Formats: sequence, structure tokens, C-alpha cells
Amino acid sequence: MRGRLLLIVLLGFLLGALGGAALLIMVRGAPHAKIETSGKALIGGPFSLIDQTGKQVTDKDFRGRYMLVFFGFTHCPDVCPAELQVMADALGQLGPKASEIVPVFITLDPERDTPETVGAYVKNFGPNFVGLTGTPEAIAAAAKAYHVAFSKFEYKGQDGKTDYSIDHSTILYLMDKNGDYITHFSFGTPATKMTETLRRYL
Ligand code: NI
Repeated sequence: MRGRLLLIVLLGFLLGALGGAALLIMVRGAPHAKIETSGKALIGGPFSLIDQTGKQVTDKDFRGRYMLVFFGFTHCPDVCPAELQVMADALGQLGPKASEIVPVFITLDPERDTPETVGAYVKNFGPNFVGLTGTPEAIAAAAKAYHVAFSKFEYKGQDGKTDYSIDHSTILYLMDKNGDYITHFSFGTPATKMTETLRRYL
């Protein structure tokens, strides 16, 4: 399991690096394209999901606020709680400016993560956290838009019963008030570093 976690963290890092490289290539390699359209829509995009109150929400509902977007699942033993805690700490350190940012957690496990489950989970990290779930198709579409890779795998628990877990990318995205990509944070970025970066863009 440790090797697996390391692999997924490394994969996530690689994906982030590739995304950055792709952005550069798009901007540099497309002199005839309008700069304002290249790079846009590369990461992020429309989504239609359900929030913790059971309400249907789309990306448009977040316009006018920055979004910190992380994909995971509430049964995640390590990466998700660690990253959500870093998000909470970074926003705490940011002070009043944090009100301009909505921390958004999107589950990759709609089978187990109902709106209630996601709601109870994100509440642990702060009252302003938004938890989103939805149909497997809607979640797959959102994950694809954000270049998030995930795969379900089964394992036998200590009780001999088959259970499942989910390997997933660990990149945290900062989106602007129009829903466009600004930057991302690799897993392991300390909260103080994240706060510094957020302050730069706000
Ligand atoms: Ni996780």
C-alpha cells in the first residue's frame, strides 16, 4: 500500500508537471492563436454535481469567487485528510481574504459518498468547505476536465471481506473568479507555502 501511495503521489506530480509543460507549449507554440483562449479550458471546465445539501450545482455557481479544488474520497486513509487539512490551515493563515476562496472537495466515490457523507466529512475541515458528489458519469466528466486520474481497486480486509479503495491524483487546483485555472499545488506543499502563493494571486 505504501508503494502504491508513493506511486500515485509521483504520478500526480508528473501530471502536474506535464500540465504546466502543456500550458507553456500551448502558449509558445501557438503564435497565431489568441493567447487569451490558449491555456484556458486546459484544466477545469463545466461540471454539474450535487452539494452537501442535496442541491444541484454547477461551476457557474462559484463565479466571483476563487476555488481551491481537490478530488478524493471520504474513505481515503491518508492523502485526502492530509491535503484537506493543509487547505484548511492555509486558508486559516490567509485571514479575512480567505472569504474570497471556496475550498471544494469533489468525491471520486459516488457509490459511498452521498451528499450527507460528503457534508459530514468536509465539515471536519471548516464550515466553508463545499463537498460535491454526483452521478458516476458527472464525476468522471469533472475529473476528466481537471485531468484527475483515478482507479478503483479491490482488496481483502482483515476480516477477510472484500473492500475497495481508490487510487487518485493528488493535485490541488486554484481557479480564478471566472473558473479558469491559475495554478496548482503538489501534494506535500506546506500550508505556509500555500498561503504565500494564494496571497500572490488574490
Ligand atoms: Ni485520497
